[in-house]
Amino acid sequence: MAAQLVTGVTITGWGSALPERTVTNEEIATLFDTSDEWIVERSGIHTRHVATGPFVDPPADPHPPLSGLGTTGTLAARAAREALQVAGLEGTDVDMVVLCTTTADQLIPASSASVAAELGVTGGAMDINAACAGFTYGIVTASGLIAAGARRIVLIGAETLSRATNWSDRTNAFLFGDGAGAVVVEATPSDGSLLGWDLGVDGSLVDLLYAHHGSGMAMRGKEVFRRAVTATVASARASLERAKLDVDDVALFVPHQANIRIMDAVAARLGLPQEKVASVIGSTGNTSSASIPLALVDAIRAGRVSEGDHLLLAGFGAGMTWASAVWRWQGNRP
Ligand code: UT7
Repeated sequence: MAAQLVTGVTITGWGSALPERTVTNEEIATLFDTSDEWIVERSGIHTRHVATGPFVDPPADPHPPLSGLGTTGTLAARAAREALQVAGLEGTDVDMVVLCTTTADQLIPASSASVAAELGVTGGAMDINAACAGFTYGIVTASGLIAAGARRIVLIGAETLSRATNWSDRTNAFLFGDGAGAVVVEATPSDGSLLGWDLGVDGSLVDLLYAHHGSGMAMRGKEVFRRAVTATVASARASLERAKLDVDDVALFVPHQANIRIMDAVAARLGLPQEKVASVIGSTGNTSSASIPLALVDAIRAGRVSEGDHLLLAGFGAGMTWASAVWRWQGNRP
C-alpha cells in the first residue's frame, strides 16, 4: 500500500494555563525604585502571573518532582490538557509533544518528556528554544512534521520566566511573567493552513539578552526594542509575500507580547489597525514562548477568529531570533 503524504495542517484545539498568583506593579515597586505609572507607560503591563520568585512561598522540596507545582512542565501540561479537550482527543491519540520554552525545568531531560508522561504521549517529545520567537518556530516545525507524516501534535509555549528573572534589576524585572498556551495541530485532507512563514536569527547579537546558568536575565532593553521592531516588520512582510497576501488580508495580528509600545510600533508600520491586534500583555507581561499562544487562545475564546480568517503571528527574541507565519483559520475540525 502506498502511503499518502498529507500536507494539510489545521488547529483543532487550544488551551491556556496561568499561575494563580498575580503580581501588581505596586508590588513590584516594593522591590526597587519604580512606579505603576512608569511601568504602564513604558510597557503597557499592569499585572503578571508568577509561579516562583519573591512573591511566592518557595516549595518545601528544593528539587520538586519534574512535573511538580510551579514548573514549566506543569503549566504546559495544564494548557495541553485543555487543548486536547477542545479537540476531543486523549493524549494517547497524539503522536508528539513539541514544547517551546526558554525556561526548561532542568538541563536534562527536556521538559517535554514530563509533559508527554502527564498526557500519555509516547510517539515523541522535544523542546524548542528559540526564545520569544519559539512558538512561531514551533508552528512551522509542527507543520513540517505533519508534512513528513505525523498526524497529531500538541504544540505548547510555556515558561516560568520568574525563575530566570533578576528580581533586583529594575531595568527589566517588571517585564516578565509565567504561563502556557497550547494548540493541537492535526493533519487535514483539505488545503493547508500554513500559507507562508519566515524564520531568522542573527547570532552575533547574543549579548543583547541572555541568562547564564544560575544567574538572572540581563538585557540591553533599548537596543532590543529598536531591533525588534525592524526585524518583526521585515519578517511579517516576508511571510505575507510568501503567502501571496496583502496586509489588508490579515484578520488578526498576533504579535509576541513583549511591550505594548513594540506591538503598537510594529502594527503601525505594517499598516494594521489596533482592532486587528491580539493583546494580553496588560495582564500577563512578557511570557516569551507562551505569549503568542496565550494571545491567540484569548482571541479565539473572545470570538475574534472565524473560519477562513488569515492570522499573522510574529515574534522576536533572544539570539536574536525572529519568526512569523501566516495561518488560515479552518475551525476546529480535522
Ligand atoms: O521579549 C523580548 C525581550 N525584551 C523586550 O522586548 C524588551 C525591549 N525593551 C523594552 O521593552 C524597553 O526598553 C523597556 C521597557 C525595558 C525600557 O523602556 P525604555 O523606554 O527603553 O526605558 P530606558 O531603559 O531608556 O529608561 C528610561 C529611564 C532611564 O532613566 P534616565 O537615564 O532617562 O534618567 C532609566 O534609568 O527610566 C529609568 N528606569 C526606570 N525608572 C523607573 C529604568 N527602569 C526603570 C524602572 N522604573 N523600573
